[in-house]
This record gives sequence, structure tokens and C-alpha cells, in this order.
Amino acid sequence: LKADLLAAIDASSGLDALDAVRVQALGKQGAVTGLLKTLGQMSPEARQETGPRIHGLREAVTDAIAARKASLEGSALEAKLASETIDLTLPADAVPAGSVHPISQVMDELAEIFADLGFAVATGPEIEDDWHNFTALNIPETHPARAMHDTFYLAGEHEQPMVLRTHTSPVQIRTMTSTPPPIRIIAPGRVYRSDSDATHTPMFHQIEGLVIDKGLTLGHLKWTLETFLKAYFERDDIVLRLRPSYFPFTEPSVEVDVGYTLIKGKRVIGGGGDTATGGWMEVLGSGMVHRKVIEACGLDPNEWQGFAFGTGVDRLAMLKYGMDDLRAFFDGDLRWLKHYGFSA
Ligand code: PHE
Repeated sequence: LKADLLAAIDASSGLDALDAVRVQALGKQGAVTGLLKTLGQMSPEARQETGPRIHGLREAVTDAIAARKASLEGSALEAKLASETIDLTLPADAVPAGSVHPISQVMDELAEIFADLGFAVATGPEIEDDWHNFTALNIPETHPARAMHDTFYLAGEHEQPMVLRTHTSPVQIRTMTSTPPPIRIIAPGRVYRSDSDATHTPMFHQIEGLVIDKGLTLGHLKWTLETFLKAYFERDDIVLRLRPSYFPFTEPSVEVDVGYTLIKGKRVIGGGGDTATGGWMEVLGSGMVHRKVIEACGLDPNEWQGFAFGTGVDRLAMLKYGMDDLRAFFDGDLRWLKHYGFSA
């Protein structure tokens, strides 16, 4: 019986067949189980003589089944591995990579250019109070400039009116009231005005610059803007025109135009200006920081002077990368981003 059972175990070709042999031998009606049952009817002497042999048989069969099972499982795993090999020569599926949004990229470019000129990056809250956004910037309550800003006011009762900042200039105030001069900062960020068409969105981006030191003049301002615009537009032939203008927080105030050249009907920044094929494009508002602003921040305007400038980041991006509709920046349309090379 032992030899038959061991042979059957060895011959079983799969786990199911092996289990059938196990039931035949060790199951309730199995041959080995049957033999074990006969022990009860034997005389003590016979039992002593036969018992160990039957138990030995059961042990041998149990061990043989376990060994065969392990070997069958091993080959099953091997077969599975063989059938499931990965073909490393297949081309991989393309995973679309994300990319930096043009506005973020331009803000990074600007921060890098100004870092080289020794400017730190400063930030301020987008929900701003009336004092920082207007009053400290020499825009008192009755000032007509407030109407120009199409301000979003926050509902509810506040100690003073709260607004979505209409420009990045309040960061000038926050910096001067928290950092002792000399100061050299830029402040890029979101600003809000109730306005919407092809060139205006209710949320847009500005970058502010502020330098406070001793003995600064418009000449320093002009050099700084020229150096920055040359680096940003990657051209040496940048020509600037400073036009007298008005901002409540700078005196004198200048609007800065940059020369462009008409090439096949397109305005290309660089050269241009008062030439037959050129013209001027307004790019920046700026001026010498008004003494009232310096005073409002607790500094002595006889000791400290400086200049400030502000411009639209979105506009700078459009000029450099040739986009024509500001609203597209905020549509999140991957086809548009791809068209301008900003998406993989
Ligand atoms: N804050 C002005 C604006 O939003 C720009 C500006 C900044 C002008 C700094 C002068 C100095 O139009």
C-alpha cells in the first residue's frame, strides 16, 4: 500500500490530482484512515506491533504529499513567471508632463533679473486695508484716483474698509514700515480691479519695485529700468522714453515707454522710437517716492529718498511671447499653452 500511495503521489501532475490522492489515503474513507480504525479492535500485543507501522505509513504519506505540493507550487510559479515576462523593448506610454504657466515663468524671470541687481522679493496680502492700499500712498478718501481703480470692496463691518488690493504698491508701505532702509525690493503678485475685456481681467498681475536710500535720483531709476528691460527682452538696443505723468505716491512721476521696431507689421521691442519704422509702447509707471509716503511710513524724507515703479506682468509676458488676448492666460486651455510652448 505504501509503495502504491507514494507512486501515486509522485505521479500526480497537478495540485488537484494530488489532492485527490490525499483524500484517497488520509480522508475520512481513506485507506490509511481505514487502517488506523482497525487498531481499536486489536489485542494490546498486536496493537503494539502494528501501531507504529500504521502511524509510520501515515507520516510517510503526509510528508510525501507536502513535498510534492511544494514542488508542484514551485513549477506553477515558474510557469506563471515565464508567461508574464515584460517586454522591455516596447516603447513606453507617453506621460504628458506639466509645465510652468507663462505668468509664473515671467515672474521667475523677473525675480532672477532683479536678484542680480540686488533686489529681494517682498510680498503682501491680497486682501488689503484701505490705509495700505490708498491712504499711506497719498490717496486720501476724497481723492479722484480712488475712482480710477474700480476697487472691489469687502462686504461687512470692518475697522476700516477692506479691499482686494488694486495694485502692488501697498507692498511699498508694508516694506518701509517693517524694514529699516536702505531698501531694494520687488513685489510680484495678484491685483484686482472690476474690469474685463480683451486687455483687462478682474484679476491680473503686477510687479512693483522700490528702492530707498540716500541721494537717489531719476537717473538711478532710468538706469535700473533700462538694465532690467535689456535683460528681460534679451536685447542691447532698448531705448527708453520718460514722459511726465501723475501718480499720487510719486513726485515727479514718469511713464516709461520702450521703443519698438515694426517688422512685417509686428511690433518688436528694441530700437525704434522716433524712427520711420518705429514707435513707442508704454510699459511702466514710476517716479521718485513722494515725501508724504516716506513720512507716512515713519521715515524722515530729508534723510531717505527713493524711486518706485510698477508694471503689469501679464503685459510683459504678452510683449515677450507674442500673445494677444489677456483673458486666455486664465482660461487654463492646454491647447493655448501648448501653442505658446508652455505645455509638453
Ligand atoms: N501702482 C501704479 C499702478 O497700478 C503703478 C506705479 C507703481 C506707479 C509705482 C508709480 C510707482 O498703476
